[in-house]
Amino acid sequence: MKSKYLIVLFATMLLACGVGKEKNDEEKSGLTSREEIRLKQYQVQGAKVYATYCANCHQQDGKGLASLYPPLAGSDYLLENLPRAACIVKHGQSKEIVVNGVTYNQMMPANPITNLEIAEVLTFIGNAWGNEAGLVGVKDLDKWLEECEEDY
Ligand code: HEC
Repeated sequence: MKSKYLIVLFATMLLACGVGKEKNDEEKSGLTSREEIRLKQYQVQGAKVYATYCANCHQQDGKGLASLYPPLAGSDYLLENLPRAACIVKHGQSKEIVVNGVTYNQMMPANPITNLEIAEVLTFIGNAWGNEAGLVGVKDLDKWLEECEEDY
């Protein structure tokens, strides 16, 4: 009976050491651990949103499709202005734009998704396929969407 308690105690101590070590590792890596975890969560959730609402047109690899759908992978248009991208995802867009030197003039429909889902999908596309835009937080996103232009 007594040895059983000892085993439990020993296991608890091992666990405590392991958790402590992990925390130190995260603190060493520039980003605070909370931000790092949120970035990963948003990427995972955003990948699901992307597969459901975006991949049909922009393709699973983010490279778009011919002159119909512009690329998101390495897109100068996306990466130079994330607030504008948030507005496009929410409201859709139908006007002439130039992405990586190629002109597109097609219709992207508005998306029936929440602000959190938009933050997640922007975090996903902003950090997939070699893009490195970092975390798009939902607070920033709320502010950006309030300031969208009228002209889509
Ligand atoms: C029905 C096809 C379609 C779907 C679905 C779609 N898009 Fe688009 N998207 C387009 C088209 C077409 C354009 C170019 C619009 C224009 O010419 O003004 C575009 C433009 C964009 C742009 C700006 C241009 C660029 O390449 O950087 C972004 C960012 C974008 N889409 C993200 C998304 C995201 C994220 C989703 C999913 C939530 C999505 N789109 C769903 C067709 C689509």
